[in-house]
Amino acid sequence: MLVNAKDMLQKAKEGHYAVGQFNINNLEWTKAVLQTAQEQNSPVILGVSEGAGKYMAGFKTVADMVKAMIDELKITVPVAIHLDHGTYDGCMKCIEAGFSSIMFDGSHYPIDENVEKTKELVRICAEKGLSLEAEVGSIGGEEDGVVGMGECADPDECKAIADLGVDMLAAGIGNIHGKYPANWPGLSFETLEAVKNKTGEMPLVLHGGTGIPEDMIKRAISLGVAKINVNTECQLAFADATRKYIEAGKDLEGKGFDPRKLLAPGTAAIKETVKTKMELFGSVGKA
Ligand code: 13P
Repeated sequence: MLVNAKDMLQKAKEGHYAVGQFNINNLEWTKAVLQTAQEQNSPVILGVSEGAGKYMAGFKTVADMVKAMIDELKITVPVAIHLDHGTYDGCMKCIEAGFSSIMFDGSHYPIDENVEKTKELVRICAEKGLSLEAEVGSIGGEEDGVVGMGECADPDECKAIADLGVDMLAAGIGNIHGKYPANWPGLSFETLEAVKNKTGEMPLVLHGGTGIPEDMIKRAISLGVAKINVNTECQLAFADATRKYIEAGKDLEGKGFDPRKLLAPGTAAIKETVKTKMELFGSVGKA
């Protein structure tokens, strides 16, 4: 069932668990995440970055594929299709393409400009029934060629954006996309707590879910995080399983070169990763 992310995140915040956003990259990825959500009876958010949207032949292709798959695979759990780190133009395109949720990443703008643009999108999303995520304090690491430094958000700026009427807020708390370096100091719970105290009931979003230790994930959820984004970890699991298949020479046995066989171990590895994350986030059985 395609829905926006508003209700599922409010329920998660109240119930002290988090809904996973799993970024999708192709048909196999999408199917793996949807099937796992159904098997685990968990709500789920499919994340699509602007780069992944382009790769999959455009946002309309992605939205239509997801809708058709929900129908054909009889997916009854709540599913949101969400633009990840959108530009203002990307947000407009996704609204047009039929996404149910968008993220406007205005974190690199001066706060006044972030506020203005977010305000405009709050109005449009309310009119069209989409949910909206905003970001304050840029999240580090590299995504689509953009490298951020892993800032800690200013809690007052978080409140200013939260008060505009967004449905979820990503605040930088020292988290970064991709693998964490060995000398990473960990999440700033001090920042998270200050943001939570200022923003109250607002569901908070933790980006860069890959590689954050379990105890930090649980603590973040206890401090108001209701959505956790995971991308790299599924990519690593997919690549690892695919490499093992090739290295074992399985593609050379019989019709092992058939993409339906070649991509099967990687797809199973994505399913396993998603299941493990849903268990950790506490969203199993919460559909
Ligand atoms: P990772 O790739 O580190 O899991 O981060 C995903 C993310 O935050 C997408 O916005």
